[in-house]
Amino acid sequence: MEKTQNSKLKTHNLKVGIIGSGTMGIGIAQVASNAGCEVFLYDANAAQTEKSLSGLKKTLNKLTEKGKLTAEKANEVFNNIKPCTDISGLKDSDLVIEAIIENKEIKTKVFGELESFVSKECIIGSNTSSISITSLSSELKNPERFIGIHFFNPAPLMPLVEVIPGLLTDKDVPQNIYDLMKSWGKTPVFAKDIPGFIVNRIARPFYGEALRIVEENIATPQEVDEVMRTIGNFKMGPFELMDLIGIDVNFSVTQTVYKDYFFDPKYKPSLLQQRMAEAKLLGRKTGKGFYDYTETGSGKQEALPSTINQQPTSNQQAIFMRILSMLINEGVEAKRLKIATDDDLELAMQKGVNYPKGLLAWGKEIGYEKISETLQNLYDDYQEERYRQSPLLKKM
Ligand SMILES: NC(=O)c1ccc[n+]([C@@H]2O[C@H](COP(=O)([O-])OP(=O)(O)OC[C@H]3O[C@@H](n4cnc5c(N)ncnc54)[C@H](O)[C@@H]3O)[C@@H](O)[C@H]2O)c1
Repeated sequence: MEKTQNSKLKTHNLKVGIIGSGTMGIGIAQVASNAGCEVFLYDANAAQTEKSLSGLKKTLNKLTEKGKLTAEKANEVFNNIKPCTDISGLKDSDLVIEAIIENKEIKTKVFGELESFVSKECIIGSNTSSISITSLSSELKNPERFIGIHFFNPAPLMPLVEVIPGLLTDKDVPQNIYDLMKSWGKTPVFAKDIPGFIVNRIARPFYGEALRIVEENIATPQEVDEVMRTIGNFKMGPFELMDLIGIDVNFSVTQTVYKDYFFDPKYKPSLLQQRMAEAKLLGRKTGKGFYDYTETGSGKQEALPSTINQQPTSNQQAIFMRILSMLINEGVEAKRLKIATDDDLELAMQKGVNYPKGLLAWGKEIGYEKISETLQNLYDDYQEERYRQSPLLKKM
């Protein structure tokens, strides 16, 4: 196999191809263009590109009106993005970032096509949320040029980017991408190529345990959200967040993580979430999810005042400790497995999904014995592996 030349990636006048102009693709295009790159944007659905570009124009206008961007810079950001009606429009790219549908077969087919016309030096990155980077790269002619470059939603606002080398990635590529992301104003962290990488693995119980609490009639989605916001200071509760992410998207990530961990019960998907996806109650994008966002609905949950008094009830406290203990246990297990450095684990949860604190710091603050005791009680009650503790937890 011929090897690509991976010298240092230039950070000026870089040509960046983006495949997929949906939620993530257009956001990444904006970030790259804002950093001075020439951006080539392609989507199989040309109407989507048009729609996304007109949305971007509106966003840039708003930023200009608010004085956050000069009119000149806004024009530059918009004009630097060149829509392409054919994927071959990306042929001169130094870097291509793929942000199409989360489907391994479709992504692999696109990479095959891409490799037939881009230069050997072109780095190919995927924004996949959960598909193994190594498995995607293994289908390429030059897998050493391939890497995970995982942005968070909305890409222009969330600072975190997980940089994920696969087993076949050339050793220079991760540092090149890390440096590039820094030059784009992002907060990059290196992550191991494991299911869910850092954030999507550690955050699983935020959704999964919350869904279970509702399935077991312990509390309603509204009550769980309020507990997590009020006691935990999370910006959004799990159900509000699932409605924002898309219940289908969140369910699909959980399924991939569960399957790729060989059906570890910790990540078992929820029947309730499956039913919601089947019913196309997908959250904000379809108007209804755990909340109702239609004209007549009461979806503006975040505007509701808290009904939790100064002193939460014991049930509210138990819900909070149950979800948080599961999260801290995942954080500790990620530390044990060295999925990333301790600092990056802390940074990732705060900069990727807005957690109010790093989970390791939070565990220390509450006391790891208390976390361990909460999990032990859950284990005793349920007799399920789901509640097993990280071997490191008791040593913390
Ligand atoms: N939505 C999120 O919160 C989020 C966050 C991080 C990463 N991701 C990942 O980013 C990727 C894109 O997600 P999204 O939310 O932007 O999806 P999206 O549905 O908004 O956009 C995907 C776009 O890909 C296009 N597309 C599909 N097949 C194509 C093909 N063969 N060639 C070219 N274009 C094609 C579609 O027309 C669509 O416009 C996925 O891998 C997803 O897992 C999503």
